[in-house]
Amino acid sequence: MDKSIFVKNLKVENQTNPLGIDISSPRFSWMINTEQNNVLQSAYHLIVADEDGEEVWNTGKTDSDQSVWIPYKGPSLKARKCYFWKVRIWDNKGQISDWSKASWEMGLLGKDDWQACWIEPEQKEAVEEPFITVQEMFSVGLKDKSLEEKAKDLRPPQLLRRKFTITGDIKKARLYVTSHGVYQLELNGSRVGNNEFAPDFTAYNVRLQYQTYDVTDLLAAGNNAIGAVIADGWYIGRIQLTGHSCQFGNKLGLLLQLEVEYQDGTTERIVSDEQFVSSTGPWEYADLFIGEKYDARLEQQDWSCFEFNDQNWKNVKQVDYPLDNLIAQFGPNVRAMEEILPLSVHCETDGAQIIDFGQIIAGRIRIAIEARNGDIITLQHSEVLDKDGKFFMNIIGRNKDQTDIFIAKGKGSEVYEPRFVFHGFRYVRITGLKAAIQKDAVRAIVLYSDMETTGHFQCSDQRLNKLQQNIQWSQKTNMLSIPTDCPQRERAGWTGDLQVFAPTAAFNMDVYTFLERWLGDVREEQFPDGQIANFVPTGKYYVKECSSMGQLSSAGWGDAIIIVPWVLYERYGDVRVLEQNYEAMAKWLAYVQEKAETEIPDSMTETDPVVLERQKYLWNTGFHFGDWLIPSIVESANENTGPMDSAILTKELVATCFYANSALLFAKIAELLGDKEISQTYYTLNKRIRKAFEKEYIESNGRISAHFQGIYILALQMNMVSSEKRPLVAAQLAQLIKDNDHKLDTGFLSVPYLMDVLCAEGYEDIAYRILFQTDCPSWLYEVERGATTIWESWSAIKKDGTVGHMSFNHYAFGCIGDWLYREPGGIKHSSPGYKHSIIEPNVNVGLSSAKAVLKTGYGILSSAWERNNDFIKLEVKIPPNTTATVILHGEKRVDIGSGTHQFHYESPSVLNGRA
Ligand code: BGC
Repeated sequence: MDKSIFVKNLKVENQTNPLGIDISSPRFSWMINTEQNNVLQSAYHLIVADEDGEEVWNTGKTDSDQSVWIPYKGPSLKARKCYFWKVRIWDNKGQISDWSKASWEMGLLGKDDWQACWIEPEQKEAVEEPFITVQEMFSVGLKDKSLEEKAKDLRPPQLLRRKFTITGDIKKARLYVTSHGVYQLELNGSRVGNNEFAPDFTAYNVRLQYQTYDVTDLLAAGNNAIGAVIADGWYIGRIQLTGHSCQFGNKLGLLLQLEVEYQDGTTERIVSDEQFVSSTGPWEYADLFIGEKYDARLEQQDWSCFEFNDQNWKNVKQVDYPLDNLIAQFGPNVRAMEEILPLSVHCETDGAQIIDFGQIIAGRIRIAIEARNGDIITLQHSEVLDKDGKFFMNIIGRNKDQTDIFIAKGKGSEVYEPRFVFHGFRYVRITGLKAAIQKDAVRAIVLYSDMETTGHFQCSDQRLNKLQQNIQWSQKTNMLSIPTDCPQRERAGWTGDLQVFAPTAAFNMDVYTFLERWLGDVREEQFPDGQIANFVPTGKYYVKECSSMGQLSSAGWGDAIIIVPWVLYERYGDVRVLEQNYEAMAKWLAYVQEKAETEIPDSMTETDPVVLERQKYLWNTGFHFGDWLIPSIVESANENTGPMDSAILTKELVATCFYANSALLFAKIAELLGDKEISQTYYTLNKRIRKAFEKEYIESNGRISAHFQGIYILALQMNMVSSEKRPLVAAQLAQLIKDNDHKLDTGFLSVPYLMDVLCAEGYEDIAYRILFQTDCPSWLYEVERGATTIWESWSAIKKDGTVGHMSFNHYAFGCIGDWLYREPGGIKHSSPGYKHSIIEPNVNVGLSSAKAVLKTGYGILSSAWERNNDFIKLEVKIPPNTTATVILHGEKRVDIGSGTHQFHYESPSVLNGRA
């Protein structure tokens, strides 16, 4: 066995050798590689040097077991400079590793580093869609315009190019770029990088990311040309629930700075200026939501090459936008991450061909087409077929077309892949193609933010394995630039959806930096009074529509500003996420507190001073989504009632539970950050809210006034119930579930805690019946109906097969994933980032085996068990520099260090006969 230890996976800001960082104190992380057991780091030594080999920071041998998120504390880092760093470690056995090396490069650090100026091609200003309300958008009477009519208002993406000369031997060349709209770049006919939809969707007016590309190898000595195509994207195009346009601006623009360093030390800059010229190209329009129309006959060959004749192109204008919203790219870019072959192609009676990719995704297709000059080929995208197996557009509403149009030039085989759009789909309906589509001529291109898959869960029940895959698919396809509710109808960063899904997300993928970035937008868009927008980035429509209705934020949605950083801290162990969001958390809580203390419900006629006094601790006014989408309420909805009834019937209690929960989390965070006084204040507040809740809403027999499963779950989970009443309240919940034939009836906010609460209160049997339930609503009902993602509504396909106009790809109800990893999987964090973990597989769920694997910041943590009658064989892997406590059969605790460990123990099967 190799006895040595070495350091690998060196990362700066969670990336390997990143370019273009603008963080003043980047954080270093590494992993220890060894085949030995029980290895802990006892010290590290880290040295940073600049490009010239000059040492800029030297930690010396530092006694510390910290190997993740170590902040740089040397002198100020300089713009554009590359830094080299190396690290070695000592372990608890006195061994020293060799040095391991890596690098990173700083980007442009402020507006003074930009010599470029914004340029805009000649263009007609984008048309702002008329204002409609959310109610109008969902009303059956809403008449959406035809694609032909819409096309009149849509505008073409713009091509911009500029020639330049390289006069020396290049040492390195960097391109710093961003745009109003989304761009793709070419240098001398070759694509630059592989980013899609850059710049990512952020609160553009205050935070616009630029991207850095190493283009050293794309430049030629002598004559060169650079080209950019820009399309409307999120900045100008139609977005969100109501399909509004122009949320951040109405003109496409480009900001670009190419910096070339020659071997002789001189530098050259080519920047966006009036030497650029512009033209339209083959795209008639490209709108993220509506789709793209591409006329291949209008392609301009070699348009980004020097020799191309651009005589007919137009001049561009320099425009003076402030540059203080610019920040460097932070976190992953969107990329084409996977390709899927069709499962089948079939013809409908009208000649349309339907391709089934067998999987709901977010992305687009690439298709090789043989057609005649001018043939118009239309691609419509949908997630489901109807009851009779016919193509069915499940997403409706304004500008939800998801339709691409290709006009062929008719020269042999032409390959079409839309460039500036993505759709949520499994099925594509193609019309206008005479020839039968061959399966291998088509691919579905899956697009999402480039994050590493870190989690894996598998067990003896194939249906649960399918559920886990569906959760992962809903995650990938809803993490395209921002965390979204769904990738078709709204594609919006709903804070509540992420709040419930974040723990699961952090198992499946490394979402840390992706969510840190999004939290930056949540903070920036916080309203002056402390409210947190219901979805982020927001855009001006939302502010107008929602402030008029008094519903800028909602309990359980706005609380994301406290819950999400807390989850990230627990799962990734970096305290910076708490520090960064601390002020915003405090402002949000102050807003809630003010509402609770100063407002009472309109309906309140009470005069008893005791009752009035406790109103101060109840957040029982204002608009809230409540326990959104309670199945029984969705089921019984008619024209007069709607999903809003879930909100109306539960909101007071839900809001008060979240108020207490956020106060408690904030108290813990304040304590952690050393703010003792604040911490004490919020611990006390939490107690008072809980007491007031119990008095106001819980009867002596444990019945809660809003008699819904979700309310009991939240009350128990958030400790709103005194220990005396706890069993009574739990019994009410159990009864409700039994009366509902062992089916859940929980909404968005309560479902994450359903399984945990039932198990904690001694109702494991009920919890497991819910888990294996196959009648609607249940997780396995969806699986058995062929789901490939998680649906927005459990009954999106009804028992009689009727298919609803719902989203089939909402990750929120996939939040059970967290429980699967923790309980049957057995992996639990015990100190932040899994420095110490608890391995405690629940072997009595009704499974005969389960395995959970998680790539933590320290390495692979896993737990795999198998039942053989009453005996359990458990294998556990603990990464170096961490420890774990293994809990066998709920009682025996064994403390272990890193390495692979096996256990055999007796655990009589409590619940025989399942799975
Ligand atoms: C979205 C959600 C969101 C909700 C607010 C819906 O239209 O799709 O997932 O959280 O509105 O209640």
